[in-house]
Amino acid sequence: MKVGIDQIGYFTPNKYVDMVDLAHARNQDPNKFLIGIGQSKMSVADATQDAVSMGINATLRYLNKINKSKVGLLIFGTESSVDQSKSGSLFVKSALKLDPSVRAFEVKEACFGLTAGLMIAQDFVRLHPDQTAIVIGSDIARYGLKTAGEVTQGAGSVSLLISSNPRILELNEGHSAYSEDINDFWRPNNSKLAKVDGKYSTQVYLDFFKHTFNDYKEQKNLETKDFAAIVYHLPFTKMGLKANRIAIEGEDEETNARLMDSFTAAKELNANVGNIYTGSLYLSLLSLLENGDLKAGDLTGLFSYGSGAMAEFYSANVVEGYEKQIDKAGDEALLAKRKKLSVDEYERIFSEALEDPKNDVELVSDEDSGKYYFAGIKDDIRQYQAK
Ligand code: CAA
Repeated sequence: MKVGIDQIGYFTPNKYVDMVDLAHARNQDPNKFLIGIGQSKMSVADATQDAVSMGINATLRYLNKINKSKVGLLIFGTESSVDQSKSGSLFVKSALKLDPSVRAFEVKEACFGLTAGLMIAQDFVRLHPDQTAIVIGSDIARYGLKTAGEVTQGAGSVSLLISSNPRILELNEGHSAYSEDINDFWRPNNSKLAKVDGKYSTQVYLDFFKHTFNDYKEQKNLETKDFAAIVYHLPFTKMGLKANRIAIEGEDEETNARLMDSFTAAKELNANVGNIYTGSLYLSLLSLLENGDLKAGDLTGLFSYGSGAMAEFYSANVVEGYEKQIDKAGDEALLAKRKKLSVDEYERIFSEALEDPKNDVELVSDEDSGKYYFAGIKDDIRQYQAK
């Protein structure tokens, strides 16, 4: 039985900062941000968009195409959790009016959270092929104003529907996982901003990539040239480029060209949205599906990484007719409609969004109609509503 990704929905908030403007404001050469880091724009979440509202909005992108009564599992992966106890899944389940019998919970392991959920969902669907699972990754990456990590921020969510006989990607059984207890990136409970040892995190990411990629190829008796494309967790696109260079080192010219072209296609959305932590790998997958040159049966490798640190390499095959399941025009419109912020406006919105919400102060969203948003708290209870 084939199990895999049947639907992909993504959402990013309606504001962005241009990296050229940010570079000028920070007295940096714009090419450092555009080429050295590989980012062009970054989405900015105001106080009315959080991990939950973005996760609802991402799932709404495909909800009317699926049979809601078949959903048996809803997993929410995030490192921007809105509550220490209640899971984001329950807010999402309620907004989407899913059945009370759905098993709903949240998972955490930095940027690995969506992959963790996907692996659980895959096993669930193999055991219950008549049911489906929604897996969401939703995050706001915040390193802080005027920090080295500032250029690698972003906000957004990716939601996947996992099912039997999927219409986008068939997941192959087996994987290579690797973890170590290290401190490359973390966010203590008393901080709204991430702590990061940026250079170390890059090194660990590349080491874990080499380890899991080589181990996976050995396990499956595969060679690099067997892959039509490899997609990477992309906290910033230069990081994936470094891993891709490792993957193609010493390979023939055709493999080199193919994997470089597919990488270019796969980084397009990420370069314009920024880091969305848990959703980053899957935003890159969507970018590849929309901009790459894939055909039915093509083998795609996926490298997931979460600081702390946990990595996994696995693969999937492209399903015939996958293009029909993807809303490329809608995805492009989401980016095109964003409002460009000046750096001053971005700094103000960023700082306001860090403030704790006050009871009974209603927040008003400027998102389009139909979009969910965080409307403030009443009796310390978070309120979500649609525009
Ligand atoms: N033109 C072109 N390139 C230029 C340039 C110019 N004018 N000026 C500099 N560059 C290049 C540099 O040569 C360098 O390239 P290489 O990486 O190829 O050497 C690149 O631009 C960056 O320059 P620096 O290393 O000097 O940049 P920096 O000190 O400002 O830090 C950073 C960069 C480490 C990525 C920093 O932005 C950071 O800490 N970001 C956050 C860390 C991060 O995202 N880590 C990812 C793993 S953690 C993760 O994924 C999160 C998770 O699990 C939750």
